[in-house]
Amino acid sequence: MAETEKGGGPQRLDKLVASQTAYTRRQVQQLARAGGILVNGHAVGSAAEKADPAVDSILVEGRPLFYAAHVYYMLHKPAGVLSASRDPHRRTVVDLVEEKTGRRGLFPVGRLDKDTTGLLLITDDGDFAHKVISPKSGVDKVYHVRLDGPVEEEMIRRFAAGLQLADGTPCLPARLRLLEPGPAPLAEITVQEGKYHQVKRMFGVVGLGVTALHRVQIGGLKLDASLAAGDCRPLTSDEKAQVLNGEQSKAKNGE
Ligand code: URA
Repeated sequence: MAETEKGGGPQRLDKLVASQTAYTRRQVQQLARAGGILVNGHAVGSAAEKADPAVDSILVEGRPLFYAAHVYYMLHKPAGVLSASRDPHRRTVVDLVEEKTGRRGLFPVGRLDKDTTGLLLITDDGDFAHKVISPKSGVDKVYHVRLDGPVEEEMIRRFAAGLQLADGTPCLPARLRLLEPGPAPLAEITVQEGKYHQVKRMFGVVGLGVTALHRVQIGGLKLDASLAAGDCRPLTSDEKAQVLNGEQSKAKNGE
């Protein structure tokens, strides 16, 4: 089941319908005047009327309105798209999700660089976003990293001890694991914070360049392998719980 919440109490129909669909408030008002909105079987004359989505049956142009107080989407972020809600010139991750779902008021949970790909959560729930992002919550963020030079044991030890960035900023302990050795190795890094360009700057400290960065997991939630780059889908309630309660502290424990 997708993560939804019932209730919210009686709300003006223009606000309620616009918050749950692709219609703007003005469009909802026009629709109501034209008889396109039914509450418990009766057409409402004005979108200023109130309805309670937990108890009233609401039909918008014949389609039932399913109410969700907050929404949580998993996006497979493609390269070249900005991690922001809005940008006057460039396509954003929120544009991608809005186009597919019609849902408004969304924002990304943290940021990935424009060239970084992989798992990004998109929501309208600020408390949830804060918990995921805050280093205090200890939620793992797991990345696959393609590097331009070999990974040495000493690097793994330095990451586990918590290294300092070039400007002196201290990092929490991070877990580094070699997945494919060689001159352009693939490694997995697990961090519990999200400083600006953190992963690239951490590898910079040990003299390695990052040629590709892909986030595969947040907390206990893995990127759905069936989700193509640019696609999104709602989280189930189990998946939402996995983000915060999933296997954590691997980075801290150096497991
Ligand atoms: N670290 C980075 O350097 N870039 C990202 O996009 C995410 C983590």
